[in-house]
This record gives sequence, structure tokens and C-alpha cells, in this order.
Amino acid sequence: MKKICVIGTGYVGLVSGAGLADFGNEVICCDIDAGKIDQLNNGIMPIYEPGLKELVDRNIKGKRLKFTADVPNAILNSDVIFTAVGTPMGQDGEADLTAVEAVAKTVAQNLNGYKVICTKSTVPVGTGERIKRIITTFKNNGNEFDVVSNPEFLREGSAVGDFLIPDRVVFGVENARAEKVMRDVYRSLFLIETPMVVTNIATAELIKYASNAFLAVKISFINEMSNLADAAGADVHVIAKAMGLDGRISAKFLHPGPGYGGSCFPKDTQALAKTADNFSVNLEVVKAAIRANANQRESVLARIKSILPDLSGKRVAVLGLAFKPNTDDVRDTPAEHIIKGLIQAGASVVGYDPIAAENFKRYYLPDLEVKDSVWEAVENADLTVILTEWNELRGLSLPMLKEKMKQPNVVDARNILNIDELKLLGFTYRNMGRSKI
Ligand SMILES: NC(=O)c1ccc[n+]([C@@H]2O[C@H](COP(=O)([O-])OP(=O)(O)OC[C@H]3O[C@@H](n4cnc5c(N)ncnc54)[C@H](O)[C@@H]3O)[C@@H](O)[C@H]2O)c1
Repeated sequence: MKKICVIGTGYVGLVSGAGLADFGNEVICCDIDAGKIDQLNNGIMPIYEPGLKELVDRNIKGKRLKFTADVPNAILNSDVIFTAVGTPMGQDGEADLTAVEAVAKTVAQNLNGYKVICTKSTVPVGTGERIKRIITTFKNNGNEFDVVSNPEFLREGSAVGDFLIPDRVVFGVENARAEKVMRDVYRSLFLIETPMVVTNIATAELIKYASNAFLAVKISFINEMSNLADAAGADVHVIAKAMGLDGRISAKFLHPGPGYGGSCFPKDTQALAKTADNFSVNLEVVKAAIRANANQRESVLARIKSILPDLSGKRVAVLGLAFKPNTDDVRDTPAEHIIKGLIQAGASVVGYDPIAAENFKRYYLPDLEVKDSVWEAVENADLTVILTEWNELRGLSLPMLKEKMKQPNVVDARNILNIDELKLLGFTYRNMGRSKI
């Protein structure tokens, strides 16, 4: 078991730090955001993630998990340094590595013995080499270090389970010494026979982007099929089900919607395409998925306008602001584009989300009218659009919805409402690939 420091205590760093502590390691999570660390030291989770508080509390109690804003001190007291800082989209779609590079410098300045520097942030191929160069340049002693790539595959909304029982763990290493350290860190997972892919650093870095890009392509594919199904009078759910029964395809990620969003797929597809361009390799399929995703957001607006061609003065209720259920993360959420499009077309928008409403207002539209319940949001609305498949929206009472709304118009961009009931109640509705069945 190792002494670990996780730098960056966000969605990935906090879950990973608490998870690594749960595996028996001694972990200190640190962040330059002192407010976040204060919250954690006071037992408050800075993000919404099911099961996270229990995981954190259990490991604090077990004295395996601590939080600090003193990053240098955390490095000095650790053998393995995980970097989990953000790598947002930068210029031209490239990943912005400012935070990763800043961390590498801080690590170099605090290298008081052999350490393994492990990148968990999603970084373009070649970043491991870059980190090595930075540390070599800025360290002021002869201490040795190894650089490792350990991409993270957790999904927001089910991050705790994904981290504790992953499908696989990938690490890219350059030598047996670093590999042994990583095997010690993940020892608990070896015991439950989790597949481990041990490879070189460049391969590990690319595995993460290849996985996310493939999933983005799969989503964009079924999204386009849903548009065709709507035009042709077919049922995309039956198409997806039959496709998914083919073992070569698999049923997962064949759910049409308003386009993928969140903190990973949009920026990672762009960054991968840009990296490939830099190598003079054209990733046509990935670029097409990016374009299809932008079109899909527009297609939701088109569906709305096919019911209400003139939106000026119309009241539209938007149910679901997070990019997916069970998270408060609104980064690159389809709701942003769609709500802005509605406002631009003259609609007055009222939003509802059980968890993410405040974040949505903070990052995008401070003046957006948001309500504390579905029923307040849909009151007097001319149209309701569903953008996130929160469980409470899956069970929405349609008679009640009709009663509350001014006009019974619905665009179900997540295909969660019962079509027979919508028809029976006289709703005018659109969905994604089942509108004409
Ligand atoms: N969110 C996900 O679902 C997910 C999944 C897999 C991989 N990733 C990748 O993991 C990385 C982190 O993503 P996230 O969603 O956790 O980001 P985040 O924005 O939630 O967290 C990043 C944290 O790093 C801190 N930070 C920034 N610079 C720092 C510095 N110099 N020193 C210390 N702390 C610093 C920030 O204050 C913030 O708390 C990204 O590269 C992302 O692509 C994210």
C-alpha cells in the first residue's frame, strides 16, 4: 500500500482519491481551490455524485484520506503523485494543458526522493514525455522519478461504482520499477481479478481518447438513425434493440437523444481530431461524429419548431439541465444550446432540474427562470421539452402534465414518455426516432 497524493480534487480527483484510499492506500487529496478543500474538511461534498459522501466519510474515519490546499507539502509526503486537474478545450479544439504543466513544475520543485508521477487527467498522446521534460528541467536535485499514464474511465453519475469495480485498469509505464508501484497501488483490484492493461505511455494516453471517441461515434450514429426513423416512420428503439442483439455491436450506447455533452466527449473528440491533424492523420469518422452532434442539438430545436413554428411570446418548460442524470455537471450540456436557441427565437423559458439548476444558472444564464418542481415549471407552458432522463421525469404523470400546461405540446428528447398515453391524452408530441409510430 502506498502514500499517495492526488492533485486536483474535482469530479475525477475526489472520487479517485477516496477510491484509492478505499483500496487501503494512504491518500491526501489537494487542490488550489482552498474553498473546495474547506468544504471537504467540513464534511461537505463540493459535487453531487451518488455514494460519494459515504465513500469519503468511510475513508476519513479509517484515517486513510485527508484533504489539503498545501500542494507542495502533500507532494513532499507522498510516493505516488496522481494528477487529476482539468484539461479543458483550448484553442482550435486542442486540450489546454496549463494546469497539467503547472502541476509538473510543482512536483519537480518538491521532488524529495523517488516518486511515480501518474497522470489521470485525460491528456493528448505525447504529454507523458512533456511532463518528463518539465520535471527534468525544474528539479534541483538528483532524485529519480518515473512518469506513468493511468487514464480514468469513470462515468459521472455512477463514478463510485465505476472506480471501485472498473471494467479494466490501464497504465502506461516505461519500466518495471514504475509498474511494480502501480500494481501495489491497485493491489485490491488484482485480488478481484480486474483486467489490467499494462502498456507504454503513448498507448495508454491514446486508449482513453480512442474509447471516448468510439462511444461518441456510436451515440452520433444512433442519433442520426433516429432522425431517419422519424422521417421514414420507423421506430428507432426497435432498430437499436435488434442492432444490439448482434454481439459485434452490443446494446449499450444506442440510445438516441439531444446529442452527447458533459466534460469529456465534446472536448475529447475535438482534442483527438486535433492531435491527429498535428500528426497529419485525418480522423474523418471522429470529425463526422462531432458535426453530427452539433446537428443533433439543432434537430431538437427543429422538432420544437415543427410544433410551434413561431416561438415568440411562447412559454417553454425545459425539464433537465444536466448533461445526464445523477450529476450536477452542466459542462457542455445540450440544454445550454437548446435554451439559448429558444430564447433567441423569442420564447420565454423556464427550467427545472432536481440537482443541476443552480450550476446551470451560474455557468450559463444567471437570469434564467428556474423552478423547484416539475409542476411549477410546466404551469401554463405552451410546450414542454425533456432534455435529461432523470428518474422522476420517467415517471411523470401525463394527465397532470396536460392539466398544468396551457397547450399539450411535448418534445421528449430522451424518449422516456409513453407514446400510447401521449396519444390517448391528445398531446402533440415529438421524440427522437419514434415520432410517427
Ligand atoms: N469528469 C469526468 O467524468 C471525467 C472522466 C474521466 C476523465 N476525466 C478527466 O479528468 C480530468 C479532471 O476532470 P474533472 O472533471 O475532475 O475536472 P474538475 O474541473 O472537476 O476538477 C479539476 C480540479 O483541479 C483543480 N486544479 C486546477 N489546477 C490545479 C493545480 N495547479 N493544482 C491543484 N489543483 C488544481 C481545480 O481547482 C479543480 O478542483 C480531465 O482531464 C478530464 O478530462 C474526467
